[in-house]
Amino acid sequence: MDIEHVRSRFIKHFDGTTGRIFASPGRINLIGEHTDYNGGFVFPGAIDKGMIAEIKPNGTDKVKAYSIDLKDYVEFGLNEEDAPHASWARYIFGVCREMIKRGVDVQGFNTAFAGDVPLGAGMSSSAALESTYAYALNVLFGEEKIDKFELAKVGQATEHNYCGVNCGIMDQFASVFGKAGKLIRLDCRSLEYQYFPFDPQGYRLVLVDSVVKHELASSAYNKRRESCETTVAAIQKKHPHVQFLRDCTMEMLEEVKDIVSEEDYMRSEYVIEEIQRVLDVCDALENGDYETVGQRMYETHHGMSKLYEVSCEELDFLNDIAKECGVTGSRVMGGGFGGCTINLVKDELYDSFIAKANEAFKAKFGRSPKVYDVVIGDGSRELV
Ligand code: GLA
Repeated sequence: MDIEHVRSRFIKHFDGTTGRIFASPGRINLIGEHTDYNGGFVFPGAIDKGMIAEIKPNGTDKVKAYSIDLKDYVEFGLNEEDAPHASWARYIFGVCREMIKRGVDVQGFNTAFAGDVPLGAGMSSSAALESTYAYALNVLFGEEKIDKFELAKVGQATEHNYCGVNCGIMDQFASVFGKAGKLIRLDCRSLEYQYFPFDPQGYRLVLVDSVVKHELASSAYNKRRESCETTVAAIQKKHPHVQFLRDCTMEMLEEVKDIVSEEDYMRSEYVIEEIQRVLDVCDALENGDYETVGQRMYETHHGMSKLYEVSCEELDFLNDIAKECGVTGSRVMGGGFGGCTINLVKDELYDSFIAKANEAFKAKFGRSPKVYDVVIGDGSRELV
């Protein structure tokens, strides 16, 4: 992330003065996909890639925002009816609105931002953007009165209310709470969390990006969530204490097998199994048992591909290659429908796996995947 670049653009596009600079990261998730909105566990970490924004109050009631990467400039007011059209600007607008709803006296500001987290690759570029502004507005206009969890919820509510994605809390949580070298297990029902040092000796985590963009996936994502809620509603009739799939057992799911659709059944089966896999992986990590970690990752991929149906041909292909190369664990990461696989690879296999993935992917799809080594970094912060 390049502070100088952001600063020089900020100076050029506004009145030559400087503001304060804030940053928030994207995230990886070792395991626990589509479990957050089901009250289950997730196991993400922040990465060393994210968004940087320079911000300065401008004494007006307008936000003047410049996207350095898109070379696009948008101006908007802070009232509900002022929502801009550009999708990138809606994230900033949504954050302003959600902060105002929480009592922060947001005023107009100038801002320029840039990022190095790839867009639409499943690394939560949008959460990085939301968290950057939520964190910054809290410092600039909110006397830091909003706590970190609420800042994550500001980002999530922005997705729900201004971007049409009914996401869970994982991405924004990881972006705000990230710590270098640590993964975080979050219980999305109680919101309890625990940091786990992650420094697997002899292994590396690497992302292989299919470069299939998952931008149009929001309606499919929302549909998955509805499936889970439909199943919960059916189970609740007999088990009124059940609030989320987290509270359900496979036996309970069996009881409603003839009532819910086959599709809703499959979706729910995946989620119930996935929640357990997160716990298994945490135990395995504590015992240094990376073979089990890897096995669970493959199981997740299978579930996401065959039961939850959020994989795609390119990602299944990358997963098969990983298996063929003897990679310890591999799976589609994030919401799915495109983006990356996350791979746990033994050091000595790394070079041959990457070479093989490149070559085979290119032969089949006519273009190269992108490869990102994972470095687990810090969460939201002020830089200058
Ligand atoms: C997206 C959402 C998250 C989570 C993941 C899947 O990244 O924003 O809330 O549901 O998909 O695990």
